[in-house]
Amino acid sequence: MKNFKIAVIPGDGIGTEVMTEGIKILGSYLGLTEYATFTYDWYPWGCEYYHNTGQMMPEDGMDILAGYDAILLGAVGFPGVPDHVSLRDLLLKIRQGFDQAVNLRPIKLLKGAPCPLRDKTPDMIDFVVVRENVEGEYAGDGSISEDGKTVYQTGVFTEKNTDRIMKYAFELAQKSKKGKKLTSVTKSNALNYSMVFWDQRFKAMAKNYPEVVTEQAHVDAISMYFVQKPEAYDVIVASNLFGDIITDLGAALQGGLGFAASANLNIEGTYPSMFEPVHGSAPEIAGKSIANPMAMIWTVKLMLDHLLPDYDHNVIVDAIEATLVDGNVLTRDLGGTASTKAVGDAICDKIYEVLCQ
Ligand code: NAI
Ligand code: MG
Repeated sequence: MKNFKIAVIPGDGIGTEVMTEGIKILGSYLGLTEYATFTYDWYPWGCEYYHNTGQMMPEDGMDILAGYDAILLGAVGFPGVPDHVSLRDLLLKIRQGFDQAVNLRPIKLLKGAPCPLRDKTPDMIDFVVVRENVEGEYAGDGSISEDGKTVYQTGVFTEKNTDRIMKYAFELAQKSKKGKKLTSVTKSNALNYSMVFWDQRFKAMAKNYPEVVTEQAHVDAISMYFVQKPEAYDVIVASNLFGDIITDLGAALQGGLGFAASANLNIEGTYPSMFEPVHGSAPEIAGKSIANPMAMIWTVKLMLDHLLPDYDHNVIVDAIEATLVDGNVLTRDLGGTASTKAVGDAICDKIYEVLCQ
């Protein structure tokens, strides 16, 4: 049986609490399926580490992580450390340093999850966003004028990177059981360099995938369509900034940040990929054992999809859904009173029920 080495960075706040449940699910699932074994090394990097050392991770942190098959991250950020420091020196450092070019974010409304849209049902909200993850508007490029009164934030879009994101998205759409449809998020009416280029690369790549239905939508318009007709979407490809924004809206459609999972994928397999829930460290509820672990548990499923692609790991999402439908063991954000641990246990039980029947 294959063994995978996983670097675990629980991070800050509720990151540590939800991580415990994610690892618990993995242990139970792999114990029952015997698909593989995982060994875990835990790294206490994050804001507390920063307070003690002045750094978010040690100098050789990236070298350490490079030796793993995958990285599992909880959340980073805590009052006392500026967010642009905690984000850039840990999260973005890993995403960019390990060339994790794709940020994959499934948006799926589960039965029993609180959708804010009155007339939309679970079968109508099920799509995936492929977000560019290493350059674009988050490239970190820019300058400040000498008098400090003008600043420039530069978006960087290279053909090499844009094309591999497009290719990844087209291949995902081609494999899709839904509609083989790919929507490109743009704003080329206003962003006359970057998004015009983005549109050109999208059109050029489309020629290789004639069976994929393509469309473009401006980022402002798609924000409206997400609310009006989420059922219209299958696979969506978006730049770093646009993907970031529309996936928070997507998270709302699926019932909140408690459900939003993501995978930062190194497409070429040169470096480890990283898996993390979309939510942050939620300092105001940290340490109370009331955080919803479902996004973390869904994230663990994305890691399994990546490491063990020959197996179907949907039983994990089905178990989250069954727990929601039962409605007895839910955290406070879902109107319940259960602890983070109790929800993890309930999902574990559901997995056991399915796999051992
Ligand atoms: P946040 O995601 O931590 O919280 C937003 C809201 O959602 C809060 O009301 C919080 O209580 C709630 N929430 C989030 N996850 C939840 C969960 N699993 N269960 C129940 N409720 C949950 O975002 P916020 O407040 O903007 O940022 C807090 C800190 O987290 C900041 O330092 C920020 O920089 C960091 N952050 C880190 C991210 C990451 O590590 N990927 C992503 C977003 C924020
Ligand atoms: Mg975000």
